[in-house]
Amino acid sequence: MKAETTAPYAPRTILITGASGGIGAELARTYAAPGRKLILWGRNPQKLADLATQCCSLGATVETREVDLCDGQAALSAYREDDAASSPDLVILGAGLSDIQTPGSTTESPDKVLQLAQVNYSTPVALATAAAQGMAERGGGRIALFGSVAAFYELPFAASYSSSKAGLAFFAKAAGLGWRQHDIAVTLIAPGFVDTPMSQRLEGPRPFLVSAKKAARLCARAIARRQAVCVFPWPFRVLEVLTRLVPQGLRERILLALAVGQKDAR
Ligand SMILES: NC(=O)c1ccc[n+]([C@@H]2O[C@H](COP(=O)([O-])OP(=O)(O)OC[C@H]3O[C@@H](n4cnc5c(N)ncnc54)[C@H](OP(=O)(O)O)[C@@H]3O)[C@@H](O)[C@H]2O)c1
Repeated sequence: MKAETTAPYAPRTILITGASGGIGAELARTYAAPGRKLILWGRNPQKLADLATQCCSLGATVETREVDLCDGQAALSAYREDDAASSPDLVILGAGLSDIQTPGSTTESPDKVLQLAQVNYSTPVALATAAAQGMAERGGGRIALFGSVAAFYELPFAASYSSSKAGLAFFAKAAGLGWRQHDIAVTLIAPGFVDTPMSQRLEGPRPFLVSAKKAARLCARAIARRQAVCVFPWPFRVLEVLTRLVPQGLRERILLALAVGQKDAR
């Protein structure tokens, strides 16, 4: 049996995908500290360089990597290199892509749907699995996957986004169970609206909006507590329970009546 410890959680090496994004960058700054190494993944070299400078000024050692998660095999090879060189003990798979069906079109764009499946589901699932292999050999670690409260609903205008996040949530639950014996804690982060470029593209209300800074704080706390699921802000937890009580016919009418658009809909 493991000895109980009250020491605060202090990962040594953290790899973050989507580090150039709103929540990912805040997480990088939250964790940046002397004695800690951050491996920051994104696609935009300038954003990554600026973030690296900020995190270094907070005392962290930083490496950056440009990776397009649409190429799952390349991402997996990149992960294996970083794992062999740096042995991350916390991996945060934060990168994500959202899309909404353009009003008046019959379906979402099949090309965008493919990208969504890769960035939101296939690649993070493969990376989490690669991370777990390394962590199991080293005696444990923690992995955080980013879902969404959208996973609770079969959104007719965002079928690919809501289902990619639902698939990821199911994976997190199953993998968390399977990897527990290797002392690997999996945390599914399921945010509501967070004030980042992703939600800023939406046209319409963003109820219970939280700042990226607050979101990062809540994520870090959930990871430290080895929480299996972290849904925030709390009204979305209540809403999820309440909507389960709504009869299916009414649920479908409500979902079909939701009018959501996005600014740069193509
Ligand atoms: N913001 C919200 O309201 C909200 C709500 C629920 C769930 N989430 C989830 O939270 C996570 C973080 O979102 P955010 O709000 O921080 O969004 P964001 O500001 O739009 O950042 C998204 C991040 O994902 C990266 N990314 C997108 N496509 C990629 C690709 N093909 N290859 C590599 N990286 C890619 C982006 O990199 P670039 O900088 O190169 O584009 C960026 O770093 C996502 O998984 C999102 O689905 C967000």
